[in-house]
Amino acid sequence: MPAQLRALLGDITTLQVDAIVNAANSSLLGGGGVDGAIHRAAGPLLLEECRQLGGCPTGEAKLTRGYNLPAQYVIHTVGPIWQGGQHNEAQLLAACYRNAMALAARHGLLSLAFPCISTGVYGYPAEQAAQIAVAEVRACLEQCPTLEEVLFCCFSAADFERYRQLLGQAIQTT
Ligand code: APR
Repeated sequence: MPAQLRALLGDITTLQVDAIVNAANSSLLGGGGVDGAIHRAAGPLLLEECRQLGGCPTGEAKLTRGYNLPAQYVIHTVGPIWQGGQHNEAQLLAACYRNAMALAARHGLLSLAFPCISTGVYGYPAEQAAQIAVAEVRACLEQCPTLEEVLFCCFSAADFERYRQLLGQAIQTT
């Protein structure tokens, strides 16, 4: 059964999935945006575990436990900072999704939720980022046989509409 891809509008820290993906920075020591929200919701033990990881290069991903989050795990990935599009940003953003999916597969996870990586503080144009996200997740699904559900957790109505369109997702009437 192929995995279900779905967009939703909400706060990723509330999602009851096997892993949520954090749009972190290379220190993995917390920050603002979704990184800050995840650390606040997970509690101080998340930062303690992150301290042991020795950071994370842009485009790569590392897994920790979720602690007080409803999600069992957090997959921390570091998106590229937008510098105009001529600095390998698209390839690095795609690598974030690919490496997060590979980690999920390695741990036999069934469900995974992504935020809109790099489109906040890091300034990546939202439409281009969404196209990369959906294309890369779709391309990686074959290598993730255990994954049953991948959620694109959007924090703004504009992002939700963008992903809904890209996924051909019907408007929820209920
Ligand atoms: N749930 C889901 N999405 C969220 C949440 C949340 N609770 N909070 C913010 N977002 C969304 C933002 O609206 C944006 O669409 O996450 C997306 C990514 O934005 P940022 O969190 O700013 O991440 P990014 O652009 O990748 O920049 C990363 O910001 O917070 C710091 O430490 C982080 O230095 C790193 C940088």
